Amino acid sequence: MPTHHIAVLPGDGIGPEIVAEAVKVLQRLSKDGLDLQLEFADVGGAAYAKHGHPLPEATLALAKKADAVLFGAVGDWKYDNLERHLRPEQAILGLRKHLGLFANLRPAICYAELAAASSLKPELVGGLDILIVRELTGDIYFGQPRGRRTASDGHFPGSEEGFDTMRYSRPEIERIAHVAFQAARKRGKKVTSVDKANVLETSQLWREVVTQVAQQYPDVQLDHMYVDNAAMQLVKAPKSFDVIVTGNLFGDILSDEAAMLTGSIGMLPSASLDANNKGLFEPSHGSAPDIAGQGVANPLATILSAAMLLRYSLGQPQAADRIGAAVQRVLADGLRTPDIYAPGTTKVGTAQMGDAVVRAMG
Ligand code: IPM
Ligand code: MG
Repeated sequence: MPTHHIAVLPGDGIGPEIVAEAVKVLQRLSKDGLDLQLEFADVGGAAYAKHGHPLPEATLALAKKADAVLFGAVGDWKYDNLERHLRPEQAILGLRKHLGLFANLRPAICYAELAAASSLKPELVGGLDILIVRELTGDIYFGQPRGRRTASDGHFPGSEEGFDTMRYSRPEIERIAHVAFQAARKRGKKVTSVDKANVLETSQLWREVVTQVAQQYPDVQLDHMYVDNAAMQLVKAPKSFDVIVTGNLFGDILSDEAAMLTGSIGMLPSASLDANNKGLFEPSHGSAPDIAGQGVANPLATILSAAMLLRYSLGQPQAADRIGAAVQRVLADGLRTPDIYAPGTTKVGTAQMGDAVVRAMG
C-alpha cells in the first residue's frame, strides 16, 4: 500500500480547532491500515506572525511535495491593515496559483435534518444538492494589468483610479468546462454555465467555448444564465440547478449564496484541484475569528473536506464514504454544534462533534 503524504495547514481563527478534528478522523483511518503521513506547516496570519510572510517558502514547498493539502482557514482582523501582499488571503491565492488549482468544486447540500436552519422555506431547500464548479486561477482575480494610477480618460481624467483586468483564454475555459461536464455525468446530467455575456467580452468567449465543449457531452444538458439571474434563481428555485460552472469572481459570490441556502456554511467542504486531481481541501467557510478558541466551531465541513481529499486526490472512495456515513449518523443522532442547533437536538462543542464522528466510523 502506498504512503500518502498530506500537508496540513491549519491557519488562523478557528482553523486549528476544526483541522484538529479532521486529523482525528484521518488518524482513525490510519489505525485501520491506510498509510497516511501528515505534515503540518504554518499558513496565513499565523505564518506572518511567525515568519513574516503568509505563505512561507517552506509551507509552499511542503504543499507542492505532498499528495494533497488539508487546509483550515486564513484571516483575522489583526491583519486587516497589512499591505495586500502580506495579508492572510494571499496565502490561499498563492497556493491556488503555484499549485495550479484551477478547478474549485463547492457542493451545496442541504441535509434533511438541517432544512429548518435555512433562511429559505424547508420545501425549497430540502434535499438540495448542487455543485458549483468555479474556475480558480484566472479571471479578474489574477488578470494583469492591475493597479493604481492617475486616470488618463474616463469620467474623471487626472484623478486617482484603481483597475483590474477580467480575462479568460480559450484553454482555461475549455478545461474548467470539461470538469463541469464530467462531474454532471456522475450526477443529474445538467450544467448551467453562468456568465455576463450581455455585457462582457470575456463572458462572450466563455459562452462560446462552453457551448463547443458541450458537443463532446451529448448526454449532458447545457443551459446558459446571466449571473444576476442566477443569483435570483438560486433563492427562487435552487433545486432547479445541478452543476453550475462559472468564472472565478462570479463563482466566489454564487458559492457563498448557495452555501447559505443549506442552512449552515459550517457543513460544506470544498476541493480545489489541479489537472492531475492533486488538490487542496478546505471548508467553504472562513476563519471566524469571533468564535476562535471557544471550542464551538462546527468541524464537519473540514471533516467532509478530508473525505473529499480521500476521494479525489488519494483515490480512496471507500474511506470517503465511511466518513460521509459517519457524519450522517451523528446528525441523525441529533448532535449539533451551535451554528446548526435547534430545540430538541443536543448541543455539542467542536471536539465532542469530532469525537462523535470518529466513534460513528465504527
Ligand atoms: C473563497 C474566499 C477567497 C476568494 C478569499 C479569502 C481570497 O472568499 O475561497 O471563496 O475570494 O476566493
Ligand atoms: Mg469567497
